[in-house]
Amino acid sequence: MKHYIFGAISAIALMGAAQAQDNLVIGHSLSPTSHYGVGAQAFLDTLAELSDGAFTGEQAPAGQLGGERDMIEGLQIGSLDLVITSTGPLGNFVPEVLAIDLPFLFRDYDHARRVLDGEIGQELLDAIGENDLVGLAWTENGFRHVTNSQRPVTSPADLSGLKLRTMENAVHMAAFEGMGAAPTPMAFPEVFGALQQGVVDGQENPITVITASRFWEVQGYVTLTGHVYSPAIVLASPILFDSLTEEQQGWFREAAAASAAATRAEVDRLEAEGVALMRENGMEVITEIDRAPFQALAAEAAWPVYTDRFGSELIERIVAFE
Ligand code: PAF
Repeated sequence: MKHYIFGAISAIALMGAAQAQDNLVIGHSLSPTSHYGVGAQAFLDTLAELSDGAFTGEQAPAGQLGGERDMIEGLQIGSLDLVITSTGPLGNFVPEVLAIDLPFLFRDYDHARRVLDGEIGQELLDAIGENDLVGLAWTENGFRHVTNSQRPVTSPADLSGLKLRTMENAVHMAAFEGMGAAPTPMAFPEVFGALQQGVVDGQENPITVITASRFWEVQGYVTLTGHVYSPAIVLASPILFDSLTEEQQGWFREAAAASAAATRAEVDRLEAEGVALMRENGMEVITEIDRAPFQALAAEAAWPVYTDRFGSELIERIVAFE
């Protein structure tokens, strides 16, 4: 929203945005045709429809506005309106959220989606609301898998010494240290170049991201470790959101729910065709592994990063959720 960029809340916003013709910007890290792109478009289309064209906007895709951490900071200072981001860097702003980044926590997509759409998801959105951010709805990145340029990974021993890019996330880094890799945190816009130049040997991301980013150009191997579910979220700037009427805030929440539904449907579609696509593009795809040794090492190293600070109550509720 142009009139927030220099920190000055415009007269339009102060008068109440009910009559405003706004051109919102929604930032994300992937291409406009990715699952995030589909979700961003669903948000904009739904909002335009609900507001009868009063709120329109555009995507700033492909990390044009920086990495996910930069974009979240942009929301807090009001230089950006909306972001679709993984929770990767969110724990640096709202540490409670690290609970849902723990490796081997969610059993499958259904478990993750129902937890996040229910009471627990709402409690975490409320915690986000207390930290200069507005969490509109949980959406999805997907279960993450390991790719690398060196060798097929079938056991934790194969990860030993691999320089592996992770998100800037304390529990993810602890998990990979526990599994024997050398985790290297890095913002996503730098990842392709770092893989290409051999600064790191590998990375981990969902099938949706591996295919959207054409990682087969720089990575020969992928193992479907599914070591962690990667939630995503539609976030709004509190500066924008607080300037809206209650009715308008309801439209934003509804648009975010439509965005999440569209993204999840796209994740399902891309996952179904992803393995074949990666193979067609020359990757060796290891689909069957014994996850137990990965799980034991990752959980032992990463779970205490969260439980030492917040206890295990929330995690127990998530694990017990049927
Ligand atoms: O690896 C990451 O940083 C994230 O998974 C990505 C690709 C930016 C999507 O949220």
